Parts: sequence; structure tokens; C-alpha cells
Amino acid sequence: MVVTVVATTVSVEEERSKKKSTGGFVDEMRSVAMKLHGKDQSKGGEKETQGKPWPKWEPNIDGYLKFLVDSKLVYDTFDKIVDKADFPEYAEFKNTGLERTVNLLKDLEWFKEEGHSIPEPLSPGLDYSLYIEGLSKTDPHAFICHFYNTYFAHTAGGQMIGKKVAAKILNGKELEFYKWDSDLPHLLHNVREKLNRVAENWTRDEKNHCLEETEKSFKFNGDILHLILA
Ligand code: HEM
Repeated sequence: MVVTVVATTVSVEEERSKKKSTGGFVDEMRSVAMKLHGKDQSKGGEKETQGKPWPKWEPNIDGYLKFLVDSKLVYDTFDKIVDKADFPEYAEFKNTGLERTVNLLKDLEWFKEEGHSIPEPLSPGLDYSLYIEGLSKTDPHAFICHFYNTYFAHTAGGQMIGKKVAAKILNGKELEFYKWDSDLPHLLHNVREKLNRVAENWTRDEKNHCLEETEKSFKFNGDILHLILA
């Protein structure tokens, strides 16, 4: 009986990974990212983030607003970088459908109408925006790592956290941040293919350099996530 349960768990996880696999370099990026998740996180819990233990999971509106404001700043920075396309490969990532700025703007408007004041961005968002802006001008391989991790993390663990927060402090209100205009798996599939195409022209050293940046992406994004509990 125990053997049957274990076998089923493994095949469900394999199935999940297969669905997210398009082969190519994205599989390598995903694999490095998944290794940086705590065991609990990759199963949907939120006990640990790389480098920092999570305190007791008790979100509040003030902290959540700080998280949304800093997230908006970061997504806005990514949008502007790909629009400007200092390196031609960035142009591949214009209008992917994963952009979050407009949706976050709507959410912040909603909070304002509900009587909350919207805070100014704090150092986690400001520091990360400055970092990726600088990186984007000099180091496209590392920049693409941040692009992948930031957008894809939000569609996975980010969505789950959003649902938990909504249930705990927003009476289940579903924010625009967690809605996409078209089918999300389809959007993600298209972006995975674009990432693979761009990385096809990279040397092994350039690919390794990109993968090595994953840890920094976890650190910066983890600091922004921790604002939820601030
Ligand atoms: C409390 C924090 C977090 C939780 C609970 C969490 C949870 C998860 C879960 C459950 C998955 C899906 C696993 C699967 O499909 O098998 C996932 C995927 C992923 N996460 Fe996280 N995560 C967290 C933080 C982060 C951070 C800080 C980053 C980096 C910025 C990140 C990057 C990713 C990436 C790139 C994927 C793969 C998405 C895909 O393939 O579509 N996660 N996460």
C-alpha cells in the first residue's frame, strides 16, 4: 500500500515537470530555480525562502500593500527595459502577455478606493529595480535569468501566496495581479520557447553565467516577498 502511494506521488510530480518542459535551456533554468526552493515551498508551502526563514505566516494589509507597490516598480522596470531593447534579443520579450504593471495599477486603485493609503516603494523594490536596470545594459545573459525567474515565480508560488493572502485578509477578493488576459499555460509556453530560441545562440559559458545569477534573483525577489509580513 505504501509503495503505491509513493509511486503515485512521484508520477504526479514528474507529470507536472513534463508539462512545464519545452526542452532546451529553460529546463536548465527551472532546474536550478527548483533546487533553491525549500522542500516545503516546492510543494506549495511557504516555510522558507532562500537565505531567510519565514516568520509565522500572518500577513497584514500594510505589508501586502508594500509588496504590491514594490512589485509594480520592478515589473515596470522590466517592461521598460524590454521596450527599450538595449540588446536586440530583449525585443523578443515585448508584449508576452505576462506583463503585470497595468494589473497592479488597477489593484492599487482598488485599495485606494477602499480607503487605504498607498505607500512609497521601499528598498527591496528600489534596490532590485536599480540592479536589473544596470545589469540590462551590460550583461544580457544575467538579465534574462532575472526576467525568467521574476515572471515565472509569480505565476507559480506567487499565485499560491496571493490566494492564501486573499483568503486571510481580503475576504477572498481576487486581485488583478493574479489574472492574465489569455490562457496562462499557453502564454508561459510561448515565453519558454522564446527563451530557448534566444539561448540557442549562447555559448556554454554564457549559459552557465545566466544560471549562476539565479541565486541573486531569489535573494532580491525573496526580499520583496518578505514585505508581505513587514
Ligand atoms: C514562499 C516562496 C515561494 C514558494 C511557496 C514557491 C513555490 C513554488 C511552487 C509550488 C512552484 C511549482 C513547482 C512545480 O511546478 O513543480 C514554483 C515554481 C517556481 N518558482 Fe517558486 N516559490 C517561492 C519563491 C520563489 C522565488 C523567490 C523565486 C525566484 C525569483 C521562485 C522561482 C520559481 C520558478 C522559476 C519556478 C518554475 C515555474 C515554472 O516552471 O513555470 N520561487 N515555486
